[in-house]
Amino acid sequence: MTRDVPSVSVEALTAPPGVPLAPVDAPTATPGTPLTSVDAPTATPGTPLTSVDALMALLADCAGVWDTPDRSGDPVDILDHGLQVAAVLAEHHPEDEELQVAGLVHDIGHHLVPGDESGHGEHAAAAVAGLLGERVARLVALHIDAKRYLAAADPAHALSPESARTLSCQGGPMSPAERAAFEADPHFTAALALRRADDAGKVVGLAVPGLERWRLAVERVVNAAAPGRSGLGGSGLGRPQP
Ligand SMILES: [Fe+2]
Ligand SMILES: [Fe+2]
Repeated sequence: MTRDVPSVSVEALTAPPGVPLAPVDAPTATPGTPLTSVDAPTATPGTPLTSVDALMALLADCAGVWDTPDRSGDPVDILDHGLQVAAVLAEHHPEDEELQVAGLVHDIGHHLVPGDESGHGEHAAAAVAGLLGERVARLVALHIDAKRYLAAADPAHALSPESARTLSCQGGPMSPAERAAFEADPHFTAALALRRADDAGKVVGLAVPGLERWRLAVERVVNAAAPGRSGLGGSGLGRPQP
């Protein structure tokens, strides 16, 4: 579905919960509805994405998909959440499209394997690694580790009630040794940036650029990861990785 609406400053993303913001279209996709597009992925766990079309179709299909199947979790669906996170990162890290795209896709694991809180980062990373490259995949996987780090190192960092609830099943706050190891990771700084955007990008009704705003950025990231691959057609799923 199209969600191209006028952009507003992502500073609004820091507005307190409940503050009215420009509305976006309500999701029209129904959770569990079979995909009918010829380009639609089958969202099978462990099946890597191998084309931009397949990734964009999967993201579009995340409209009406929630982090918890019973909708008891965060108040925005996975598409809106990814768009908000990507918008925050585009504003604060305009030079880093890989980071922005990582923010866009970081929670597709909730769609690939519904209900797997602790594994959703790894599911998403596995799906995008071949298409978007190792750095994007690593940042996607690390968004849960970064949450555990911030829970230990920055207690003032605000988690949503759902993120706070799932922290324990994801390992809880990092130990001092885990924090030291994470700080030594070459992706540490970018992973924290993604996580801070992640926790800011859960504003109901916020208007941010729609999914099509990201197609060219995704194509650039794909081409940087493996030149020429964005031209792959078809569903882009289920093919052997080169
Ligand atoms: Fe997540
Ligand atoms: Fe998220």
